[in-house]
Amino acid sequence: MAADTLRSLAQSAGIRFGAAVDVEVLNTDAAYARLLAREFNLVTPENAMKFSIVQPERGRFDFTQADALIEFAKAHAMQVNGHVLVWHQQLPDWLTQGNFSRDELKAILREHIQTLVTRYRGRVASWDVAAEAVDEDGRMRETFWSRGIGPDYLALAFDWAHAADPQARLRYNDYGGEGAGPKSDGIYDLVAALRMKGRPIHGVGLQMHVSLKDAPHARDVRINMKRLAAIGLETHITEMDAMLAMPATRTDLKAQAALYRDMLQACLAVPQCRSFSTWGVTDRHSWIPEFFPGQGAALLFGSDNRAKPAYLGVRRVLRNAASGKR
Ligand code: G3I
Repeated sequence: MAADTLRSLAQSAGIRFGAAVDVEVLNTDAAYARLLAREFNLVTPENAMKFSIVQPERGRFDFTQADALIEFAKAHAMQVNGHVLVWHQQLPDWLTQGNFSRDELKAILREHIQTLVTRYRGRVASWDVAAEAVDEDGRMRETFWSRGIGPDYLALAFDWAHAADPQARLRYNDYGGEGAGPKSDGIYDLVAALRMKGRPIHGVGLQMHVSLKDAPHARDVRINMKRLAAIGLETHITEMDAMLAMPATRTDLKAQAALYRDMLQACLAVPQCRSFSTWGVTDRHSWIPEFFPGQGAALLFGSDNRAKPAYLGVRRVLRNAASGKR
């Protein structure tokens, strides 16, 4: 393994460096696959393990994409983070329009979790068990699952995942609560309550979808990570990207590099922060332009697969950390 890649420097610095993977691209674009294998040692399926893809019809499971990623990860000595067992998006129509009773929904969710976690036992090191269950004001978000099962769907999901693979590290994952504020407090209260009740939760994923105008202060991120560590929870930056107005200017690319640097430094400052992942590999395949028209260039590599200033900044921070200059 080349010494100066993100993955090798991160390993020396004591964290993993990851990316969300678009499996359709992985299967068809050799340059994307090479870049992924060279720079990252942790992968999260961007969509391949979500409910609507894994179980498009009731009882018919499709693991084609997920299996391909697992194989790739094994071949390149990468860890896999499973994403996501209970979430209110990307649910199939048969489920959302099925008029199921509470007991039926519990049975469906339980089967879904058991099937996925059992299939990948020993091959998926960690799971985003639940995502985005907290609202902007810090209260529980009202979703398909909370309405159908009740607020205890979260605790149940953690229990079912743990029963299926007692070795897997189980996480709660959310956006917009990375630093200080009501959402960050709401997430803290939620995971603290799960811990208090003895639920098998081991970590919190701080997604970190940011822009130049809207990003948390690195200091607040560090403080938040420390308070989570104090109740026994690991933290992970799970989905970082930093969108820019297109076409991106050199000034904005530099500011973006500073944002990545600051968030990585926050993670490295807290021993319980164990990984740093970007939500995608190159700007060509990022979710941002589709969801935020006019915005893009949010990742470390450009549409031409070339390293951007943000990549160079991240690599510098990792180099310093790897040589003990954290
Ligand atoms: O399945 C169809 C496919 O058949 C078709 O060829 C393709 C063409 O557009 O669309 C496919 O569905 C899209 C799917 O991604 C797979 O590419 C959906 O339209 C699209 O809405 C979906 O978007 C994903 C989004 O979650 C859904 O909410 C993004 O790729 C994915 O990056 C994004 O990821 C989420 C995390 O899971 C949770 N945290 C926030 C993050 C960003 O929203």
